[in-house]
Amino acid sequence: MSAHRPIGFGLDHLPRIVRGEGSYLFDTEGRQYLDGSGGPAAFCIGHANREVNAAITAQLERFACAYRYLFTTDVLEELTELILGKFGPDFGHVVYCCSGSEAVESALKVALQFWHARGLRDKRHFIARERSYHGNTLGALSMSGFAERRLPFESSLLDVTFVSAANAYRPAGGVAPAELVATLAAELEERIRRIGPERVAAFIFEPVVGAAGGVVPAPPGYAEAVRAICDRYDVLLIADEVMCGAGRCGTWRALDHETVRADITAVAKGLAGGYIPLGATIFSNAIGAAIVAAHGTILTGHTYSGHTTACAAGLAVQRIIERDELVKRVAVAGRTLKSTVQAALERFEEVGDVRGRGYFLGIEFVRDRITKEPFPAQRGLSHEIGRRAFENGLICYPCAGNAGNGMGDTIIIAPPFNATDAELAELVDKLAKSVGQVLRP
Ligand SMILES: Cc1ncc(COP(=O)(O)O)c(C=O)c1O
Repeated sequence: MSAHRPIGFGLDHLPRIVRGEGSYLFDTEGRQYLDGSGGPAAFCIGHANREVNAAITAQLERFACAYRYLFTTDVLEELTELILGKFGPDFGHVVYCCSGSEAVESALKVALQFWHARGLRDKRHFIARERSYHGNTLGALSMSGFAERRLPFESSLLDVTFVSAANAYRPAGGVAPAELVATLAAELEERIRRIGPERVAAFIFEPVVGAAGGVVPAPPGYAEAVRAICDRYDVLLIADEVMCGAGRCGTWRALDHETVRADITAVAKGLAGGYIPLGATIFSNAIGAAIVAAHGTILTGHTYSGHTTACAAGLAVQRIIERDELVKRVAVAGRTLKSTVQAALERFEEVGDVRGRGYFLGIEFVRDRITKEPFPAQRGLSHEIGRRAFENGLICYPCAGNAGNGMGDTIIIAPPFNATDAELAELVDKLAKSVGQVLRP
């Protein structure tokens, strides 16, 4: 689970899962669940895939893990080559880990180590965005503009500067759509200047916000604009693609959509599709060369960095995605999925926005479509819909808080890339039925 939602929508007991098959999970009571959100947007090729299981088993039969800092392995090298192929020749470094939080944590540490290596030792400060989530370790949580998850840890978190969310549906300060990108870019620039560029290590952002906003793609041109500002002030750009990357948005890198390269990118969830925990942090040759020249090695290692069986799982998942052209499928079928969801929910005045791309869609519910007034937080609408969908045999991912003060109800849809057309149709039907049961009881 993503360790941050009420467990099981407040059900008396959690269903006990005994079997998975493709897009479905089955419990001891014989109930089946269509995994319409790939759990927390992770299970990108469904459950119990025989090819992936065979690759894992074959690896385990040979050996589970050759310690990364003493040995290399075929699966590690092949996976590394495959990942770097998505980034192009300027990117030659991957460090592996076991989760999205750790991938972000490594991204932060690579940035700090880079500036230290370059002798710019005052560059220690990070800028992040409101309504963002980067993980649950102290560093990653420090970057997260997510009050609900930070609260018990405040005052022990890193001192981070937050700029506005890039949310076209709820633009900060009510800025007009045509001015949004320029306004956000100006805000970032003003913050960098106020802190002092010589103190700013990096700006971190989710190209498409996940759990903190209920799928919020940055407006077109935003990534280019923040890239240009980071270049102007010698600030590194970190893309957190833990949720939106690895094909989920219909391009392997979410930022492929914008033709922008971040200096450092964090991926996880879909990388090994949930078969074995695996995350990775990818960074440029320029960063790697500076660090290696000054320090000899990248200081982000963990015991299980590059765990062989995790790499075998990741390689098997990614090869299936390549062979079956699943990223292309996500791009094309994602457009149909979005319009089908829009059409199925059209009759509900409370549906304010259906957004996202590929198989990463967010639906935001409002009291009033014109004013976008959210439902009161106490109503817990998104969780009620999530729970009803669950009871109807559909797993989706409810989020709250996109509108601030705990308000703003959204549901994330993120099906497996290899879900069939019939399964996608079932997803939309069950979602519309569940929304109807909650809104029109
Ligand atoms: C954008 C983003 N970054 C980081 C994380 C943390 O990943 P994990 O839960 O695997 O540690 C998440 C988890 O939901 C995420 O959505």
